[in-house]
Amino acid sequence: MHIPVLKNEVIKYLDPKPNQNFIDATLGDGGHALAILEKTGPKGKVLALDLDVDAIKRVKTKAKEAGVGARLTMIEDNFANIAGTTQKEKFKPVHGILFDLGLSSNQLEKSGRGFTFQKSEPLDMRYSKESPTTAEKIVNFWSKRDLEFILKDYGEEEFSKEIAKAIIEARATKNITHTNHLVDIVKEATPKWYHTKKIHTATKTFQALRMAVNQELDNLKLALRQAVDIVENEGTIAVISFHSLEDRMVKNFFQDNPQLTTITKKPIIAGEGEVKKNPRSRSAKLRVARKSI
Ligand SMILES: C[S@@+](CC[C@H](N)C(=O)[O-])C[C@H]1O[C@@H](n2cnc3c(N)ncnc32)[C@H](O)[C@@H]1O
Repeated sequence: MHIPVLKNEVIKYLDPKPNQNFIDATLGDGGHALAILEKTGPKGKVLALDLDVDAIKRVKTKAKEAGVGARLTMIEDNFANIAGTTQKEKFKPVHGILFDLGLSSNQLEKSGRGFTFQKSEPLDMRYSKESPTTAEKIVNFWSKRDLEFILKDYGEEEFSKEIAKAIIEARATKNITHTNHLVDIVKEATPKWYHTKKIHTATKTFQALRMAVNQELDNLKLALRQAVDIVENEGTIAVISFHSLEDRMVKNFFQDNPQLTTITKKPIIAGEGEVKKNPRSRSAKLRVARKSI
């Protein structure tokens, strides 16, 4: 089950009040969206987006059971189109917008789309089945230079050169189609001591591929710009990121935008108790800005 990260903190900063409207740009398993709806009755609404239609199907049942189905509109879409979707849905005024980036535990553990290195699955890694690029395409067709770039920049992988080289060599003999093959390649390309580290040897490679497949940094950049226009004056934008490049992008965007004031002086991180219960929260950073014009 996906446990929403920093839920109390998100609610504290978004501060949802009765009858206010919010956008959840990353519905996932609906943990944050339902928590917001709990606070915004009887008429407050949530417009939720997700690229993954399976997430929407799952939350539909949950929202019905919680008695908030009528106040939750879910759209299968990329948050890079957040302005157009909000306009199409005539959803306003918007008091706050939440982005909880990356993937959900459900996608990691149960989607069968190759997000995990724990099982043998096809190398897909797309949030949306409509997206054109899969992880399989990247590992089999991208140049050594491009592979190295994503491994280094998105994965922060110190053996980016070695892994990229090993991928090129391996695919010359046989297409790389499944997660277990990729894990073997990464293991062979890296020294023994690297295999005994706390995080799995292939963690960074998998993260890099996922971010490249789903163009995560580009989408965030596009969405942040639009979010400022969508949110009403005094409204808030909250972003939970799990990657230093994303966090830096959010931090700089909030700082540089004259309409925004950052209200989290330092990024909010999960406490020890939360990390113990939900290891995924370990790398989460929440930043929140308020619009004032
Ligand atoms: C970390 S989960 C969100 C979890 C959610 N806050 C909860 O409490 O259950 C992130 C979700 O965002 C979705 N997602 C990632 N990139 C997206 C994008 N560009 N547009 C829309 N949804 C996206 C993923 O499919 C995933 O379901």
